[in-house]
Amino acid sequence: MERDPQTHWLETETALHYARAAVRVGIWASERVLIERHFSKPHRILELGCGGGRVALGLLQSGYSHVIATDFSPIMVSLARAVLADHDEAWEKIVEQQDATALTYPDASFDGAIYAFNGLMCLPSRTHRLAALRSIHRVLKPGGVLLFTAADREKGAYAAYRAKEAEPDDGIPGDRWHESDTSPVFMHSSTEVETRGELSETGFTVIECPLSTEVAADGPLVRQFAGETRFFVARKS
Ligand SMILES: C[S@@+](CC[C@H](N)C(=O)[O-])C[C@H]1O[C@@H](n2cnc3c(N)ncnc32)[C@H](O)[C@@H]1O
Repeated sequence: MERDPQTHWLETETALHYARAAVRVGIWASERVLIERHFSKPHRILELGCGGGRVALGLLQSGYSHVIATDFSPIMVSLARAVLADHDEAWEKIVEQQDATALTYPDASFDGAIYAFNGLMCLPSRTHRLAALRSIHRVLKPGGVLLFTAADREKGAYAAYRAKEAEPDDGIPGDRWHESDTSPVFMHSSTEVETRGELSETGFTVIECPLSTEVAADGPLVRQFAGETRFFVARKS
């Protein structure tokens, strides 16, 4: 039977997993380094695929007060609101339901965008990834910065794991269904060349794209939650 890549994100158990991560895992050391390097406190920042509010909570607690956190999944939006409101009631208002591939904000509304923890790579296809990148590009101001991660299937710790796996489920290199604590999750793992190509095609210039382990030593909870991934920081050309 055909599996729907979006189903996983609509399940309560999945959303609870990400809400717990917001509280227990928090923002990664590597994320913090790159966020502080590329975003300043007055920046208006849009978060895509915010899950349980993990990055939004870290941003707000660090003094980034102009943040809008979005997710397409109603249950993720509800739990992110609950997590943020638990820290400050005013913060629940910053969470909005948005599909990253079809954002409804006006052109050039944000200085920065964050699509954390391989969220872009959880979209169902290359066509969806390009639609999301174009949509993000549209709502960024000229020179605005996008930060996201993509699991690398060629380099780093993840590559060894990938090499042991069989052929892709659908013939597209990097497309795969993975077991998770809840239902199977679809994720595309990319190569640096491939993601650079998608960024260039959608009007972004890469500023840097280090593996997370090259940025900072993330703690054991982060390594268990996320493993190693590759950051991409790109500027709207
Ligand atoms: C791997 S989780 C990451 C969650 C969170 N950013 C974190 O780091 O904990 C991917 C997130 O992307 C969301 N997502 C999936 N498809 C989406 C879409 N089309 N638009 C916006 N969010 C989407 C999921 O609901 C989920 O919350």
